[in-house]
Amino acid sequence: MAKGPQEGSGTAASGPDPANFKGKPRSRARLEHQVKEARHSRADAAIGHIERAQVLDAPSYALRDAIARPMQIAGRPSHRLRSALHGTRFGHPVHPMLVTVPIGSWTLALGVDLLASLGLIRREKAHMADTALRIGAAGAVAAAMAGLMDWLYTDGRDRRLGLVHAGANGTALALNLVSISLRKGGRTGRGRAVSAAAWTCMAIGGYLGGHLVYRRRVGVDHADRSPEPRAFQPVLALTELKPNQPRRVEVWDEELRQNVGVALVLREGQVHAIGARCSHTGGPLDQGWVLEDTLVCPWHGSRYDLRTGRPVAGPSTCPQPHYRVRVRNGMVEIRREQEPGDEIVMQDTLAQSVHSAEGQDSPAGKKADDVLFEHHEFLRRLFERIAAMPHEDPQRRDLMRTLAAELDIHEHIEDKLFYPAVEPVSEDVQIAHSEHMTLADLLAMTLKFGTTTPEFEEHFKALRAAFNHHARSEEHSMLRHAQRLGDRRLRELGQQLEILLDHERTSRMRRAFYDLKVSLLERGRGS
Ligand code: FES
Ligand SMILES: [Fe+2]
Ligand SMILES: [Fe+2]
Repeated sequence: MAKGPQEGSGTAASGPDPANFKGKPRSRARLEHQVKEARHSRADAAIGHIERAQVLDAPSYALRDAIARPMQIAGRPSHRLRSALHGTRFGHPVHPMLVTVPIGSWTLALGVDLLASLGLIRREKAHMADTALRIGAAGAVAAAMAGLMDWLYTDGRDRRLGLVHAGANGTALALNLVSISLRKGGRTGRGRAVSAAAWTCMAIGGYLGGHLVYRRRVGVDHADRSPEPRAFQPVLALTELKPNQPRRVEVWDEELRQNVGVALVLREGQVHAIGARCSHTGGPLDQGWVLEDTLVCPWHGSRYDLRTGRPVAGPSTCPQPHYRVRVRNGMVEIRREQEPGDEIVMQDTLAQSVHSAEGQDSPAGKKADDVLFEHHEFLRRLFERIAAMPHEDPQRRDLMRTLAAELDIHEHIEDKLFYPAVEPVSEDVQIAHSEHMTLADLLAMTLKFGTTTPEFEEHFKALRAAFNHHARSEEHSMLRHAQRLGDRRLRELGQQLEILLDHERTSRMRRAFYDLKVSLLERGRGS
């Protein structure tokens, strides 16, 4: 039944409309509060309160100074300790690794306490909890030191939330120390209650820590990691560079459709190039300064080795993108040095793929891209027919099953043959695999509904949109990149795809497999 105006809950874009709330008239403030509540989860609203609490600024800066001053007085040795606590040489922040110790140990203690309270384990084993609490406390101290060091270099709302995160975890540590002493004095029952309270504080602290990293992106890499330019590209006349003065140049990334900044530095007759956006929190390195073969970030003072882009002093832990540099005809040319693990299509891989395909006769038959395009068209027609059918038509369910099997077959032949073949010449394969997963999830959801229901319509439309997007992007990009494999290779692949397609459709075992899969997905389906 269509909702009346009284029952509406507003549109996704505009949020709930105060005028649409049911019941007796309420004050405007209350309605506004309801609208806000509807837009944000309670946890987000609570975190928002903390992030806006400027009252936390004075104590937080006082604490920062209290920690930083002695370190400044101690000089270089403290710099080394600081960088070690950040994880600068290690390549990753160490705080997230250290927190696993208290989380694991204190959770173990909680479990042992619970079992002991229920009389499910013997007295001697119950002492395991005490040991776990002690190990957790030692780990918590180390994690707190590392966390404190990272927190010194946060600002604004992150600094406020970080303070409360530290407060929650500090309280957890203090309570566990009290618990250890209560247990030592024989008051085990109380000790267990106190450490259960400590565990709750730790969980709240962990939640806030997760918010800082995954929502606020504290501690994650902020550098621009574009693979461009893949070949040497002139960016600036050498005469424009002044010794030890960083200079920003930009290279275009077609994929991102934006310019990416690079900081050039001329030092002792050599030109160096590293990413201009600092990996710590995105500071402008081209506005920094040179100090002992390093480029210093103006925001928090991280220092990057000009020759490698690696950080030599924190708070940063992550290397900057690094570029090879050469000078030709008075122009500085740079080329991005790809990183280990990068799956980038380079000119030399392309040359190799095409070279191996040259000089031989092509087999007859369709090319792989034609086979896949035809199957896309077939799937599009199936979608169209199901959409146009009367909802009550019993054949709608049958056609839906055919579509499910054909989609599955399509993904299977691509995953098995086409994607591995095209991977050296196209960077689209990774996202295509993810889109297959999205399609499979949507198909599973759609099959759960009866074909006459509005839910089916809604999900079917979403599935169709997802398929259209996926097929279109393959046709516009990956199938075009595939041409780099050469005519012969594409025809070979085309043959293999057709054989596999035919096998998947006609083999009795494969049919039985697809039927079973669809019937399992349909389990619990409405009429
Ligand atoms: S942005 Fe923090 S050190 Fe560069
Ligand atoms: Fe695909
Ligand atoms: Fe496809």
